[in-house]
Amino acid sequence: MTEYVLVTGGAGYIGSHTVVELANGGYHTIVVDNLCNSSEESIRRVEELTSTKVPFIKLDLRDQEALDKVFTDYNIKSVIHFAGLKAVGESTKIPLEYYDCNVTGAVNLLKVMQAHKVPNFVFSSSATVYGDATKYENMIPIPEECPTGPMSPYGRTKLFIEDIIRDAASADPNLKAAILRYFNPIGAHPSGRIGEDPLGIPNNLLPFIAQVAVGRREKLQVFGNDYEGSPDGTPIRDYIHVVDLAKGHLAALSKLDSIKTDGIQGFVREWNLGSGKGSTVFDIIHAFERATGKTIPYDVVARRNGDVLDLTAKPTRANIELKWEVQLSVEQACRDLWNWTTKNPLGYGHEH
Ligand code: UD1
Repeated sequence: MTEYVLVTGGAGYIGSHTVVELANGGYHTIVVDNLCNSSEESIRRVEELTSTKVPFIKLDLRDQEALDKVFTDYNIKSVIHFAGLKAVGESTKIPLEYYDCNVTGAVNLLKVMQAHKVPNFVFSSSATVYGDATKYENMIPIPEECPTGPMSPYGRTKLFIEDIIRDAASADPNLKAAILRYFNPIGAHPSGRIGEDPLGIPNNLLPFIAQVAVGRREKLQVFGNDYEGSPDGTPIRDYIHVVDLAKGHLAALSKLDSIKTDGIQGFVREWNLGSGKGSTVFDIIHAFERATGKTIPYDVVARRNGDVLDLTAKPTRANIELKWEVQLSVEQACRDLWNWTTKNPLGYGHEH
């Protein structure tokens, strides 16, 4: 009987790139997604890129009955859980929707997995769980042992789900979970067929830069250049190519497969997925300009609420235990982003 990897949120940005890598790695995948911030077109393109069939079921994880049916219909061995709301600013406006969607969705998923005795769970967490690591001594670059302290409802949903997974694993010897804390994913698939397609005005730096370059927006706003401790005053982030990030999920699945639990408790471990190299906002603007030959007009404006000085990963644990490390540069990510943007100036083509 064919074994499947269920990918929740598989129509989204990181999810779709991960489905491509899974297919290339010989895995059979099924995608569930409620399409609230993604497009089914991405799945069609993933199928075309990989010459495979990817069964897609439109559902919301809060619909436990519909979810249960997927687990009855398919022989699912592992789950990679991306589905969730992810905009920091929006989460401060509609926090209850964030808790409901992200936390309730994850709890339902874990319950259904338990009912169907599905062992492997890979969770899409975020470096945002660390909050401001600069307030601790010697915690930049950030190791997994760094104390957590998310600064937004969005970040707290990620940390709460991590805690729920840890509690579930303490009680269920069948559960093996990888918590992957992503730093800043950027870029697109080198084919230019799939990429990030934010609805409305992009919140994140690279999609905004790309829309300026393609003429959809006039200027970039740089949110503050008065951060003490940054070489040019702008915040430092660890940007990683989305294809490298996608491959991290395959490394995590292999790791989980190799783990034997003691029959009393399950297994859970956190891994940072980052490059270990920090870039400022100006570094990124210049890298994009070098990669594309375009000039990005910008204004420096006030700081954005909730931004922190430095989120740079210490990725040693993933390097050693998952045998994973980034292979692609920020410049390559900028070239791939530009290729995607010029080929799909309106993304997958829904109304903006
Ligand atoms: C944020 C969240 C992260 C979340 C990610 C995706 C934090 C600390 N991080 O990452 O958890 O997973 O969004 O939604 O909450 N910038 C500008 N102008 C812009 C946009 C961004 O100057 O128009 C700057 C920001 O100030 C920041 C950097 O670019 O210094 C990166 O911003 P962004 O791409 O939004 O990512 P994060 O805030 O790091």
